[in-house]
Amino acid sequence: MAKNPLSRRQFIHLGAGALAAASATKVVLQPQRLFASGRPVAPSDTIRFASIGTGIRGCEHLQASLDVPGIQCVAVCDLYDSRHTAAQEAVKNPSVQATRDYRTILDRKDVDSVLIATMDHNHRQIFLDACAAGKDIYCEKPMSHTVEDGFAMVEAAHKNNRMVAVGSQRVSSVLYAKAKEIYDSGKLGEVFCINAYWDRNSPSGAWVYPIPPDASEKTIDWNAFLGTAPKKSFDPVRFFRWRCFTDYGEGLGGDLFVHLLSGIHFITSTNQPALRAQSNGGLFHFKDGREFPDLIETLYEYPNFRVTLRCNLNNNGGEFIGFYGTKGTMIIKDSTLSYKPEDTRPEPEGYSIYGWPKVLRDQYLDQWQKDHPQPAALASAVDAQGESYTTPPGYSDTVDHQANFYNAVRSRKPVVENEVFGNNTSIGCHLANFSYFEKDVAVWDASAKKIVKG
Ligand SMILES: NC(=O)c1ccc[n+]([C@@H]2O[C@H](COP(=O)([O-])OP(=O)(O)OC[C@H]3O[C@@H](n4cnc5c(N)ncnc54)[C@H](O)[C@@H]3O)[C@@H](O)[C@H]2O)c1
Repeated sequence: MAKNPLSRRQFIHLGAGALAAASATKVVLQPQRLFASGRPVAPSDTIRFASIGTGIRGCEHLQASLDVPGIQCVAVCDLYDSRHTAAQEAVKNPSVQATRDYRTILDRKDVDSVLIATMDHNHRQIFLDACAAGKDIYCEKPMSHTVEDGFAMVEAAHKNNRMVAVGSQRVSSVLYAKAKEIYDSGKLGEVFCINAYWDRNSPSGAWVYPIPPDASEKTIDWNAFLGTAPKKSFDPVRFFRWRCFTDYGEGLGGDLFVHLLSGIHFITSTNQPALRAQSNGGLFHFKDGREFPDLIETLYEYPNFRVTLRCNLNNNGGEFIGFYGTKGTMIIKDSTLSYKPEDTRPEPEGYSIYGWPKVLRDQYLDQWQKDHPQPAALASAVDAQGESYTTPPGYSDTVDHQANFYNAVRSRKPVVENEVFGNNTSIGCHLANFSYFEKDVAVWDASAKKIVKG
């Protein structure tokens, strides 16, 4: 607690406006395609795409695609027949081709790119086949189900010269672009500490999705769903709540950590996995046969900073990333971004000198004032009160993420969240789960491309 009677206010003349200001005015950011050309798309430039996997996310994508200029959905594919109808409804085209077999889509010469929105364990095979068929790929996050999958996918994309976008759409969000601008400006000073969480408190948030009444072995291609996963008899819980099971998903790591890590990597221009990770957590509430915890906290070690992540399915804290720098703090909370500077102008010691006799203390303070003639006032009221931004109502970063991908398909210039970026953030999820399940520190061995115990 500072006891200094000569407070900063006595030394520093702030503008009255700055002192009176209570909080920053929130600026509404306008959507802009970050890495895209703004030019209108000629009909001859229309990109024809198909969605492989038209469940929850696939349908969201199909709806979003209607707002992306210059693209056309020409086929949809899913293993569950009712999702053919859902996809046709989402894309507002009841006659678009619908199939269970994605190979028939890859065989079509008029399909330029595919959107892979299947369960995570099936990303790899479809991705490899799409690369071999010469299609560009938007692959949902997390790109990989295992570390080995990720490197096989990167190799296939490079070998076949494919444009790839991985689907953590915040990387294309106007909010994150502004956050990156603030981070890159140096206004935060040096940032050694980043802390993020994403908490949800509902059965739906914990993936306890209802099973549709028509789900059966007749309406679902169960063997194709299993793919390379261990053989099991038909189980709709595994099909619809796959995120709970290690054979198909990565729990909270693959569902939510990957978004937080993608945002942090994008803002800090990081393109490597953490060096080490240590997780803690447990399964406390959703004891429904799932294999993943409903609380996980992970401490990541990067070369120049540390990151702590948490996902908790037993509290509704929302989504948060905080960057704590030597000159200021930047917070992303749901759809709001705020920056608050710290007043780092010099000030006299105001604590330990109270262990000095008065005469020495006064001498010190007099000398300090002589050595520090009136420091400059803060540059402006904005500096004093910080900055605040939000996205406009109805803003969709998925639309922007798609737009950036399709512009990369046209320009052949890679997007930020390409296969290498997506592989690195996926490794972040695998590090977290390795540490949780092994009850040990997970170390990234970059030369062996493996996670090992620390
Ligand atoms: N970016 C985001 O915000 C976001 C949000 C939700 C989900 N996701 C990701 O999207 C993917 C799908 O998630 P979801 O919630 O839509 O799951 P879902 O279970 O609702 O849908 C997945 C669909 O993939 C289909 N499928 C699986 N293997 C297939 C194959 N070989 N051929 C054709 N179809 C196949 C299934 O039939 C199923 O309908 C996951 O990777 C998930 O992590 C991303």
